[in-house]
This record gives sequence, C-alpha cells and structure tokens, in this order.
Amino acid sequence: MNDASPILQTVDLTKHFGMVTAADGINLQISQGEFVGIVGANGSGKTTFINLTTGYLKPEKGDIMFMGKNTIGMPPRAIIKSGLARSFQIPQLYTNMTVLESLLLSLAAESGNGGSFWHSLFGQSRVSEGMEMLERFGLRMYANRFVSELPEGGRKLLDIMMSFALKPKLLLMDEPTSGVSIEDKFEVMDILVKVLQESDITTIFVEHDMEVIQRYAQRVLVFNDGRIIADGEPESVLADPEVRRNVLGKV
Ligand SMILES: Nc1ncnc2c1ncn2[C@@H]1O[C@H](COP(=O)(O)OP(=O)(O)OP(=O)(O)O)[C@@H](O)[C@H]1O
Ligand SMILES: [Mg+2]
Repeated sequence: MNDASPILQTVDLTKHFGMVTAADGINLQISQGEFVGIVGANGSGKTTFINLTTGYLKPEKGDIMFMGKNTIGMPPRAIIKSGLARSFQIPQLYTNMTVLESLLLSLAAESGNGGSFWHSLFGQSRVSEGMEMLERFGLRMYANRFVSELPEGGRKLLDIMMSFALKPKLLLMDEPTSGVSIEDKFEVMDILVKVLQESDITTIFVEHDMEVIQRYAQRVLVFNDGRIIADGEPESVLADPEVRRNVLGKV
C-alpha cells in the first residue's frame, strides 16, 4: 500500500435486519491519519457500520478493503490482528478484574506469545507498560480498583485503552464520550486525540454531541437510514439545512 491509497475503503456495503436497511450501499474512503466523526440519529446505522467493518457482522453485499486487503469473511480476531481495532458503545469488560489486569490481558493478547501467555501476563516490563498507558489515559489512580468500581466514563476509556493496547493502525470508537459528563467530555477527547495522534492511529468515532464533533473531527460523515448523506468538514456539513432538518433535529 502506498501512502496515497486509502487505509479503509468500503464499496456498496449493504445489510438488512428484516425490513430495516441498516447499511444501504455505503461507499467510503478513509485516508491514513484522518480523525473522522460519524453523526446520525438513533438507528441510522452507525454501529452497524462499525460491526460490518470489524467483522462482527457479515454484509449481504459489498467489499471492505483495509490496508489494501479485502477483509470480507475474515473473523473479527483476524481483522484485529491485521491492525483494525474497535471499542464498543456498551463496553464489554470483565467487571471482576482490576483495571490493570484488564489492560495486561490486552497487552498480552497483542504480543501473542502463545505458551508463555499466562506466565508473562504480570511480567515486570508488561506491568510497566500498562501503568504507563494508564498514566497517559489519566486512569493511573484506578489501576488496582475493580472494573466494576469505575464510573461509566472510566469504563469507556478502559475499553478504548484495551483496543489501543492491540496497537492498531485504524481504531473505530463507538460513542467514546457517552456516559461522560458534559464537563469531562472535552478532557476525555483531549486525551484521546493526543494519544491517538502521537501513535499515528487513524480514527473514526461515533458521536452525538455536535460540540465535540465541531471541536475534534477533521471530517464528519452524516448517517441517515443506513446511508451517508453528507461528508466533509464539520463547519460546512453541520450548517447544511438538509442535515440540520433531517438528522440533527433527531439526534
Ligand atoms: N442485531 C440486530 N438485529 C435486528 N436489528 C438490528 C440489529 N442491529 C441493528 N439493528 C437495527 O438496525 C438499525 C441500525 O441500528 P444501529 O445500531 O446501527 O444504529 P445506530 O446509528 O448505532 O443507533 P444509536 O445511535 O442508537 O446507537 C436500527 O433500526 C436497529 O434497530
Ligand atoms: Mg449505535
């Protein structure tokens, strides 16, 4: 793949649930280094797009090229290994583990050292890496607390950290700031933008808060009924009367 080719390309991506068209022929190209927001009313297909792109759902039709390779039919684990990670709208965490233990699991999974997996889980260098990562994400003080003790915003951040620990090239985040108080949203996004850009991770994030989109997204995609109805810089897209009438009023 040369630098000019998109890191992600979807062609005519289509998925129905019964009568509902959750993805209606999505054509999209994302370039290396972009920080892209997705907005759209409830049920407009944002999570479905993430599920399709990461192999959690199989499209009925269409192609997905990630770093030049067609990922259709690949299981989620193989897609993650190829460098495409995601976080969840509702974090999927082991609540009776500590925050540090959870992160160490992800770090161990990334290094994938087979038989020595459990042995090395708490190896000194890995614990240091985990603590350093917690520091960067502002969660160091929670290292030895149980996941169940984290506030919702903290659980979302931990879920994102666990995908970050897999060292992806592209990260899809489903509503990273939901459950985070209005006052803390910018702080969380400041951390995420800094860490992800320092690590050169191309990012797509779903977000309902237009202030967050305006402040952080370089490009915004507007979803409506499984289709992308607008794509461009937030300032012009969010000012578009059709977008405002059809989508933002329903967000
Ligand atoms: N597993 C499923 N089974 C049946 N219908 C589904 C399933 N997943 C999604 N849908 C339907 O597909 C449509 C798109 O859902 P999706 O979750 O992608 O929306 P969304 O934009 O992420 O919404 P929200 O903002 O509420 O998270 C909705 O009508 C939803 O009810
Ligand atoms: Mg969703």
